[in-house]
Amino acid sequence: MPVTRRSFLTSLGAIGGAGALYGAMGTLGLAPAASAATPAFRRPSPSDFALSGRSAASVVVLGGGIAGMTTAYELGRAGYDVTILEARQRPGGRNWTVRSGTTETDLAGETQRSGLGPGQYLNAGPARLPQHHVTLDYCRELGVAIEPFVNQNADAYVHYTTDATGEAPGATAASGRTVRQRTAKADTYGYVSELLSKATDRGALDDLLSAPDKEALLDFLTGFGDLGSAVDGDPLAYTGSGRRGYAVEPGAGLVEGTTDAPFSRSDVLRAGLGRSIPFELGWDQAMMMFQPVGGMDRIAYAFEQAVGVQKFRYGATVTGITTLPAGVEVAYTDAGGAARVARADYAVCTLPPHIAARIPSNLGAEVTASLAHAVPVSTGKIGLEYDRRWWELEDRTYGGITNTDLDLSTIWYPSSGFHGERGVVVGYYNFGGNADSYADVRHRVRLERALAGGTAVHGPKYAQGVTSSFSVAWRDVAHSEGGWVSWPDQTGPEYRRLLEPTGNVHFAGDHLSHAIAWQHGAIVSARAAVTALHERVMSA
Ligand code: PHE
Repeated sequence: MPVTRRSFLTSLGAIGGAGALYGAMGTLGLAPAASAATPAFRRPSPSDFALSGRSAASVVVLGGGIAGMTTAYELGRAGYDVTILEARQRPGGRNWTVRSGTTETDLAGETQRSGLGPGQYLNAGPARLPQHHVTLDYCRELGVAIEPFVNQNADAYVHYTTDATGEAPGATAASGRTVRQRTAKADTYGYVSELLSKATDRGALDDLLSAPDKEALLDFLTGFGDLGSAVDGDPLAYTGSGRRGYAVEPGAGLVEGTTDAPFSRSDVLRAGLGRSIPFELGWDQAMMMFQPVGGMDRIAYAFEQAVGVQKFRYGATVTGITTLPAGVEVAYTDAGGAARVARADYAVCTLPPHIAARIPSNLGAEVTASLAHAVPVSTGKIGLEYDRRWWELEDRTYGGITNTDLDLSTIWYPSSGFHGERGVVVGYYNFGGNADSYADVRHRVRLERALAGGTAVHGPKYAQGVTSSFSVAWRDVAHSEGGWVSWPDQTGPEYRRLLEPTGNVHFAGDHLSHAIAWQHGAIVSARAAVTALHERVMSA
């Protein structure tokens, strides 16, 4: 896929759409609450998912990622005899934290061994948790400590080299520059407020606004844009603001502080200086956000422990799925390469759909085609470990994300370990064509490109003091082959087909939710599959 703006937007749109559609959650208690055992009283929490009635039926779960482990956890609590087949040697799937010594060979055959120092890590997959996601309830329930994740920081930056359309080189005073997000916002809100104020004041909106509406709007815009701050100036003009930051900061005594003049209105608009503002308003991207203390895989290991490690067969690659009149047979090769079969009353398949589509089965051509209908989305990250936290020491940026239109897309500063000695910066986190362009080259080249891009944003210090690095291109990660999927649509027969069981095989995963590319989606999908399976068992 060539690196085009369109391919970037397509992949982003797919997930943004999912996020946007996902507005009506809240139906967390899917099944009537009552459990067979008589546990001590505990205040109910949203992750309480108690199935009514118990069953000793056996279930083989394909995949030990978040969907598979949620399935096993919830079914296990209702008495089921659960076995998880997991191809990797660890739980979590895409929930993967790279630390000291992590070793991985990608599908292109390149092996990386992480040289990260003690306590340093890279969340190669999921890295941020919105407050409303049920993932947090499982953190509470499973004892995973959380801490704030800085998804927006006024003192992080934007850096745009193209114009506002993203198609042509930017030719403004704000283009190709590293600008604090607070500055980009102050100028964008300022000029937008000025324009709307003037249109309102000149009566251009009189068909839409009553006199009291106009007054209220003008009052709001004055504050929103910080208008009219120039002495004796036009009260509706934006002429800059302390919000954009100071050349000389307010200080002791008579030092009131001086601000630089804003970028010109035309430059702000044509540079697209406000183009990242919509992202932080998203349903699933707005602060507060959280991360597990010590790495996202704390969730995976907590699930593993709660399910019981003896329930996992690691190194088990599924090679065949057969639904029978009673039960299922799942063929797999074990860690030693031997062919084996797992038999159970039911199966829940949480494998990525594009991978499941290739596994021989008797589920029928329609199911195979439905699985193959999903389109894997490329995404990748690089972790850059530095021997000093220059982003805190020199830039005074404590966590947060810089947005760019370079192929690296975003740079993330760590949300933990403040004032420590070292830290891991995410040197790129990108999607679609940009991610493919990094996946297409080996780690050494990815590192060079990431450092060159970061140097364009931060200057020469960016390429100094890098003590280790590790990159992940999800397209080329075995057993995932993509960061997530997008569907051509989520209303058609293919998607719907997978929401229903086929014989004794049920499906689950974030791909079967409207929170694709979130652990929340994996969990709610698993809970839907568990509910369907359990109702079926109870009514049999
Ligand atoms: N959950 C992923 C992230 O936060 C992917 C995603 C990006 C999902 C943007 C929705 C919107 O990076």
